[in-house]
Amino acid sequence: MDHFLYRDGILHAEDVPLTEIAAQVGTPFYVYSTATLTRHYRVFQEALDGLDHLICYAMKANSNMAVLRLFADLGAGMDVVSGGEFRRAIAAGVPGERIVFSGVGKTPGEMRLALEHGIRQFNVESEPELQALSQVAVATGTTAPIAIRVNPDVDARTHAKIATGKSENKFGIPIARAREVYAMAAALPGIDVIGIDVHIGSQLTELEPYQNAFRLVAELTEALRADGHDIRRLDLGGGLGIPYERANSAPPLPFDYGRVVKETVGHLGCEIEIEPGRLIAGNAGLMVASTIYVKEGEGRSFLILDGAMNDLIRPAMYEAHHDIVPVVEPVPGTEQQPIDIVGPVCESGDTFAKQRLMPPVAAGDLVAFRSAGAYGAVMASEYNSRPLVPEVLVHGDQFAVVRARPTYEEMIERDSIPAWMD
Ligand code: LLP
Repeated sequence: MDHFLYRDGILHAEDVPLTEIAAQVGTPFYVYSTATLTRHYRVFQEALDGLDHLICYAMKANSNMAVLRLFADLGAGMDVVSGGEFRRAIAAGVPGERIVFSGVGKTPGEMRLALEHGIRQFNVESEPELQALSQVAVATGTTAPIAIRVNPDVDARTHAKIATGKSENKFGIPIARAREVYAMAAALPGIDVIGIDVHIGSQLTELEPYQNAFRLVAELTEALRADGHDIRRLDLGGGLGIPYERANSAPPLPFDYGRVVKETVGHLGCEIEIEPGRLIAGNAGLMVASTIYVKEGEGRSFLILDGAMNDLIRPAMYEAHHDIVPVVEPVPGTEQQPIDIVGPVCESGDTFAKQRLMPPVAAGDLVAFRSAGAYGAVMASEYNSRPLVPEVLVHGDQFAVVRARPTYEEMIERDSIPAWMD
């Protein structure tokens, strides 16, 4: 459930008509609902009720400072993957002891930063990283708490670009070699082995891959304990999918995911961490764009929007489906026609949907892309010198611009002309 509903014929974000935001902010823009973000976080809290747990929001999904501040205030932890994300989390008020650091390419500088802030745990992805972390910890007189990310070689049955738990993926160490690598970790100075980490992919729409992976993690926990390691924390990653096509998809609910967690690893007495991103932020956000033209092509029509692939890259990058709806509610029974929905960027890949059934739309009409709160604004660019898309947060009947659209001057002034050209 989200808080984007038609009221009096206009799509609202909570109690704010989207037409009002469009008039003030201009299009395209992203809009997020505080109530939906909060609700999704709480749904995970309830799903893991009874387990000692921490929800580490995967902020790569949506790292706007206002969104982070909301979760910081709710007591969430964060999963970060770069020094930039780490700094954002700290700036939003998340203490180091609630931050976990994932990613295959952490640099010594990033490690130092995290250690200075008393990080909760590094999710280590390779032996060279383990060695580098040990050296940084020793050099700074600190101890690095770690989990090792294991690659369980299970098929997450999701899009190839976002599957991470197969042996051919770059992530983690093969689970078959885990005992060896844990032994190495335990012998290194400055390293404190705390737990095990696993993350098999994103937009999972079935529970079985989780079941398979978590069972392997449970077996590994027992084997490592038998080897003398004090495994007391399991990070189970994120990845639970969302219904991008409302009409015909129903991925498992967090409650059922929670049941799988309890059934597979609940008996081990470990503290549980999860790293959901998409399920928390995805359906808590829309991207709103205006129609520039409706163009009649050869045998097909094109709806040309002022939003483009640089603002929302998911359709171009993953062939992802986003429901697209008019902001002004069509009268019931309005006939729908197939139309290609595109942006103004100079690439055929700048296509959001092909032959999508839509009610009649005219130049100037607003449309909203649903399920755009995760991996939307964070993946935006200025390609074609289109200013970075702004973001708006709604709370009841209030709204605030939480990232302003840069002016053209700001965009141009970031570059500089070298002296030899003068
Ligand atoms: N933890 C780790 C270690 C991850 O790599 C990811 C996502 C997550 C947690 C959060 O997964 P989520 O709950 O959001 O599925 N840009 C792509 C998605 C990339 C996901 C990368 N890793 C998209 O737009 O579909």
